[in-house]
Amino acid sequence: MNRFNKVPFSCHAAIRPLSLLTLLATGWIVSCAVNVNKESAGREKISLNEEWAFYRYDITERADELTYDIRPEIADAGEYLVADARPTEAVEAGSSAAVLKPWILPTANPFIADPVDRYTRPEGEAPGKDFPFVQPDFDDSGWKRVHLPHDWAIEGPFYEGEHPLVGGGMGRLPVQGVAWYRKKLEITPEERDKSIFLEVEGAMSYAMVWLNGTLVGGWPYGYNTWQLDLTPYIRYGQENQLAIRLDNPNHSSRWYPGAGIYRNVWLIKTHPVHVGQWGTYVTTREVSASSATVDMEVNVDNDSGSDVTVVVATEIYELDSTGEKGKRSIAFFPDTEITLEAGESSKEKLTTVVKNPRLWGPKPTQTPHLYQAITTLKQNGRVIDHFETTFGIRELQFNSEQGVLVNGEVIKLQGVNQHHDLGALGAAFNRRAAERQLELLQEMGCNAIRMAHNPPAPELLELTDRMGFLVVNEIFDSWERKKTPHDFHLIFPEWAEADTRSFVRRDRNHPSVIMWSYGNEVGEQYTDEEGAALAERLERILHEEDPTRPTTLSMNYAKPDMPFARVAGVIGLNYQGEGIRQEPEFEGTDRIRTVPQYDRFHAAFPGKVIFGSEVASSFSSRGIYLFPVTEKITSPVRDGQGGDSENAQVSAYELYAVDFGSSPDKVFMMQDKHPFVAGGFVWTGWDHLGEPTPYYSSRSSYCGIIDLAGFKKDRFYLYQSRWRPELPMVHILPHWNWPGREGKVMPVHLFTSGDEAELFLNDRSLGRKKKGQFEYRLRWDDVRYEPGELKAIAYKNGERWAEETIETTDAPFSLLMQADRSRIAADGRDLAFVTLQVVDQKGRPMPDASVPLHFTIEGPGEIVATDNGNAADMTPFHSSTRETFSGQALAIVRGGAGKPGSITITATSPGLKESKFMLTTE
Ligand code: GAL
Repeated sequence: MNRFNKVPFSCHAAIRPLSLLTLLATGWIVSCAVNVNKESAGREKISLNEEWAFYRYDITERADELTYDIRPEIADAGEYLVADARPTEAVEAGSSAAVLKPWILPTANPFIADPVDRYTRPEGEAPGKDFPFVQPDFDDSGWKRVHLPHDWAIEGPFYEGEHPLVGGGMGRLPVQGVAWYRKKLEITPEERDKSIFLEVEGAMSYAMVWLNGTLVGGWPYGYNTWQLDLTPYIRYGQENQLAIRLDNPNHSSRWYPGAGIYRNVWLIKTHPVHVGQWGTYVTTREVSASSATVDMEVNVDNDSGSDVTVVVATEIYELDSTGEKGKRSIAFFPDTEITLEAGESSKEKLTTVVKNPRLWGPKPTQTPHLYQAITTLKQNGRVIDHFETTFGIRELQFNSEQGVLVNGEVIKLQGVNQHHDLGALGAAFNRRAAERQLELLQEMGCNAIRMAHNPPAPELLELTDRMGFLVVNEIFDSWERKKTPHDFHLIFPEWAEADTRSFVRRDRNHPSVIMWSYGNEVGEQYTDEEGAALAERLERILHEEDPTRPTTLSMNYAKPDMPFARVAGVIGLNYQGEGIRQEPEFEGTDRIRTVPQYDRFHAAFPGKVIFGSEVASSFSSRGIYLFPVTEKITSPVRDGQGGDSENAQVSAYELYAVDFGSSPDKVFMMQDKHPFVAGGFVWTGWDHLGEPTPYYSSRSSYCGIIDLAGFKKDRFYLYQSRWRPELPMVHILPHWNWPGREGKVMPVHLFTSGDEAELFLNDRSLGRKKKGQFEYRLRWDDVRYEPGELKAIAYKNGERWAEETIETTDAPFSLLMQADRSRIAADGRDLAFVTLQVVDQKGRPMPDASVPLHFTIEGPGEIVATDNGNAADMTPFHSSTRETFSGQALAIVRGGAGKPGSITITATSPGLKESKFMLTTE
């Protein structure tokens, strides 16, 4: 049954999708609305992040019955182990009158195009009115006090053992269940004539909001941003009680979803006549070095009870690299007078020209220049609203032979997939933690991020704009067909349109966003014309909301001759380009087995760009090397073949991958053999929480190039050698501490941006080797281990290029701490990432040391979390006691808000010299 059809779905395309050729011919640009956290004439955006009362029902308790909807029983609570399993049909849940869904659905209305399809709030009193938690006088003093962004599950403890309540897929953390957040709002009598909105950037999940005992609305999908108009429910001049209920289902995700209000929350106060939610949309045309035409749509809402006339004025300013606005505007749109009836909204279309534009472009070859459009509404000469829109001017072209061009330059996508969590900090968004992720990726030469598989925090896109990354912004991992019993398929029929439209409206001004992806490996790949028809509906919605960017769908199954493959503008292939399960051992498997597809798709869709939306999915545990080492260039993981299921670790020779994936070497080869491929996105940049394939006994993944703690695996250097060919570097693996393996075979591999290298063991040359065609590493597979010194000298075009030496160390002697920064802001948010290494008496890091650690802190700060990057480590993240893994550990330190001063972190380990690290917060 097509559940989608149960709810009328309207897509009368107001704007026809542009063909790729049109896009090519016109070139096109994008920009963005970024709101401000400051008061400005007529509009205030106030952070509501501080001081919430929080209560989560204990799992032994029965939660209240204020449920959004009935969910299907789970027949098979087993793990959903294999990522490329075929998604299955939805299960009927049965229905009940006692659900709150009818009151929540109207929140979707602004994002439903056809008025016929919009929802009507049921008559009468909304449910929950008498429930204690929503009452203003309910005593919540016994509840926990929390600050947002907040992830209630990250503290753990982990569910360990064989039948965990929450499985490895969702990170073995207590994400499940119902929880409440309460906060009081002061609204003065003078604000009686204001419109007041609540904006939630993300709450996991099924959020429902009460104000002063009345159910206002909500939003089920945990990754989208949404707004509620609180105005009708406000008590002016009194305390107002806000209560938010979340209900986060188990078995709802293939990865760690987080739990709670894990992004920012704002209170927005405006004049009743104001720029609407995400009410500006900037695009550009005819971009050249001398000029660019900038088009802008401004949406004005008249929420006052009377007809009004206002003047809309917009000026454009340059932003410098720190985000500081230039003193004088550099262009303006013509002032426009509009008259709006009470309750009416209008959309103004304006055009201007920017002379000598400073273009936005990806690093390192271009500079991500930004502009800001400042829109004011004036009534009788008085400014009544002020709205800021950050955008970039750039020309983006998609060419089926060359790939992606930005401002005329071909930019190969050197991309990674990133899930939303921030490792030991969980899903609670933190700007500095996200910035650190991007900084390390940029150091590797990465220039593009695919947001797997959901809209990111708005601040992440501010970072990608500013730091010059290209972004594939993605919304769904499932549509009607399910991957896990409680995933998005349950709400797809009612919410797909609203989620899709709000996703695009929020993000369409960001210059870093170059494509909309609206499905990852969805089950509709398998349902022929029915699946394609559903894809076409979503495709139309995306083009209505943003005709300037192409769309993509990630396909791990659909082949060029299947209906699904024809729909999206850009072909995104997951693993199919390289071929899936081609090794003889997979003969006769009932899983996906596919010969390499790049040529086939290129032949079938000669006008479309093709890229690897997921490539590699190779695995490794940092610093763990297992023997023997495969002689092939890629291999699936098995015990004795790169895998150790007992200790749940994968060999870091960087040759092992998920059954359907490939090593980086094979991916590079396939990309080089198919130069029309626009590039690819590695699965993944950083390890993420949950989805610990191949060992679901663990808590976090093995596929990252960088581990969960932010430590580089060897793979980092393999990618860097390819992505930054101009950077002289050579990297040796494995480490050289192998007591007991003397005389045994110990393959040595080098990753270098050079083309040739000579390897020396204790000053004896083991030979000079040159990379052959389609070879990306140099390997000496028959070295026999002897302690001492291993040295590599790399050459490029015959010239000496780079050198590295590693040595066998002595016994552990002391601890050494360093940090990404020694000065951080005392704002209660900024973080220092303090890394610890175990060193020998000569100060040499010990890559194989496992020692117990204890961290303490003095001064105005706290250790928020610790980690070591070991996917199998079940020590809770907030513990200040932890073992080092492959010689390293991490402590994440936050300075107290408004308490500048000096912080000392001390690390101790029995028998070793302690280490101290000083940090200043200011
Ligand atoms: C893909 C999937 C990703 C992830 C990956 C793991 O099939 O799209 O979300 O599960 O496999 O290897």
